[in-house]
Amino acid sequence: MSGYDGFAPIYDAWAADMTEDVDFYIELASEADEPVVELAVGSGRVAIPIAKRTGKRVIGIDSSPAMLAMARERAESAGVELDLREGDMRDLAVDEPVSLVICPARALLHLPSWRDRRRLFERVAASLRPGGRFAWNAFVFDHKVAAEFDGREDYIGDVAHRNAYVPADNRIDITLETGPRISLWWVSRGEWEGLLDVSGLETEALYGWFDRRPFDEESGEFVWVARKPRS
Ligand SMILES: C[S@@+](CC[C@H](N)C(=O)[O-])C[C@H]1O[C@@H](n2cnc3c(N)ncnc32)[C@H](O)[C@@H]1O
Repeated sequence: MSGYDGFAPIYDAWAADMTEDVDFYIELASEADEPVVELAVGSGRVAIPIAKRTGKRVIGIDSSPAMLAMARERAESAGVELDLREGDMRDLAVDEPVSLVICPARALLHLPSWRDRRRLFERVAASLRPGGRFAWNAFVFDHKVAAEFDGREDYIGDVAHRNAYVPADNRIDITLETGPRISLWWVSRGEWEGLLDVSGLETEALYGWFDRRPFDEESGEFVWVARKPRS
């Protein structure tokens, strides 16, 4: 069972504050040819509005059957069709190179090691056509916030969870009182740039938020748009 299956029932409550990213990804999708690929598509929170507003086919990949079941049900209620595929984003493979791959909601932080992230970036680069884009967002690591969260018990809706910060592994664990656990591994700006470098992608833009303000020393979020060079 994927660690995320246990989070599916509370995902909406957890993601309730995450709204400003949707239009940003829709805009990128409207500039792209179909199909658009969303890695870690989850409940379809972003994929469904993309399909609805652009009319384009969206391929959504996720390793959690429970999250995919939510996406399936919601797409049906919204009257759109998503091409949902159960799988690991590290194994990304498409029939034909695409012009846009996205990974919203900090989902790349669920990859534990450099090796996993490198493999993912290489798979994305191989799946993009020349000029194609890869866009994702992720927290900027803040050790003060991490230390504050360490050991804290909190609630998502009415479900309690405990946070633990493991500096030796750059990791935050979130464990529900009901047992399921997910982990996030922090990635620094230099590492993201290294991943682009080794995968042969280049930065088109790095924003500090979804309103496209420039990334600066105060930024708390990486909003990255990378591109596969044309030659
Ligand atoms: C924070 S949710 C993001 C969902 C959705 N993209 C959104 O914007 O709301 C993270 C998702 O990543 C998925 N996930 C985590 N590791 C994965 C992996 N290695 N391959 C595919 N999906 C993965 C989880 O199952 C979960 O649905």
